[in-house]
Amino acid sequence: MALSIGVPAETKAGETRVALVPEVASQLIDRYDVDVLVESGAGAKALHGDVDYEEAGARIVARDEALGAKVVLFVQPPVAEDIQQLQSGQVVIGFLSPLDEPAMSQQLAERGVTALSMELVPRISRAQKMDALSAMSSLGGYRAVLTAAHTLPRFFPLLTTAAGTIKPANVLVLGAGVAGLQAIATAKRLGARVAGYDIRPAVKEEVQSLGAGFLELEIDTEDTQTEGGYAKELQDEIAERQPELLAPHIGRADVVVSTALIPGRPAPRLISEEAIAGMTPGSVVVDLAAPNGGNCDLTEPGATVTPHDVTIIGPLNLPAEMPVHASQLYAKTLAAFVEEFVADGAFQIDFQDDIFSGACVAHEGQVVHDRVKELV
Ligand code: NAI
Repeated sequence: MALSIGVPAETKAGETRVALVPEVASQLIDRYDVDVLVESGAGAKALHGDVDYEEAGARIVARDEALGAKVVLFVQPPVAEDIQQLQSGQVVIGFLSPLDEPAMSQQLAERGVTALSMELVPRISRAQKMDALSAMSSLGGYRAVLTAAHTLPRFFPLLTTAAGTIKPANVLVLGAGVAGLQAIATAKRLGARVAGYDIRPAVKEEVQSLGAGFLELEIDTEDTQTEGGYAKELQDEIAERQPELLAPHIGRADVVVSTALIPGRPAPRLISEEAIAGMTPGSVVVDLAAPNGGNCDLTEPGATVTPHDVTIIGPLNLPAEMPVHASQLYAKTLAAFVEEFVADGAFQIDFQDDIFSGACVAHEGQVVHDRVKELV
């Protein structure tokens, strides 16, 4: 019997993405002779109809059947009802939020499934094509700047007109990882004057290579980066000085896009209420760290607020605002992951493989990932 891959529709409010798009489903079917079982309507919000999947060679099924496949692909973590339907021996792959919601890994372990989390795919070169986190961060950074430009009651670019000259907007991007760098590049393309800031001095060159300035604060930035390239949580005394030192720079910005994160920790607080009060009325803050509590003290995750006449936007899922490309890119990273472990018509469990062992959170009834185990 061919290996079955199930694609249930996403049920979380506001989620528009689908885990597999027809083009990628077709590639998997051609290359590996798998059965792809897509819940009817799963691709609708990403503008892929049932017919498109059928033309790609997939089968349209009811939810139960999609959830009963050997390998089940998700965007968001499965909800409690779905988890109850899963059976021992199935493989579940998706953004499972293991560091933010460790209880989910425990529940999946209790069902006896093998759960693989796309957030935990190690960032080694062999796994670059499976880097779903970077793909989504990139979309988020782009969309955040468009949202800011749309909300700002001013132009982004320098304009010289018969009616006078308009100065370019000042955009400050806090956190220059994948999302931040994409935000910088997008703001530059729109003609703003852009500066980036990050606690890891290693990113200075990347920021400058995009034509933006790099902001350096008078704080110790040695030992701020892990071996994996992520920021470390700062010592209290440094963390406390950051908002104070950033405030004058924030005051000069028309737009702040903040993206600073530390995996598995609450987002670092970089923007104080005083800093917001120091901004020109009408200025905009887009806080991409909102799902992790926000980089700004006044951010309300999932809402837009306007204290001191500054608009602070706390989006929870910007990639879902671009479901076509978000689904396409996500599906490609998922397929690359699945392809790595499909052999002889089966999904191979391989704890000797760095990618598999790095991403696996639950297997045979146990939570198997060290960091997740600690949190459980
Ligand atoms: P992230 O989303 O976890 O964090 C975003 C940014 O916030 C990071 O640049 C981080 O340094 C910064 N940050 C954290 N705390 C801060 C603070 N207190 N003040 C200022 N900035 C702060 O990180 P992301 O974007 O997922 O990736 C970070 C790095 O990982 C990349 O720059 C790169 O070096 C590495 N990476 C490697 C990849 C690979 O090898 N395949 C792929 C993608 C990223």
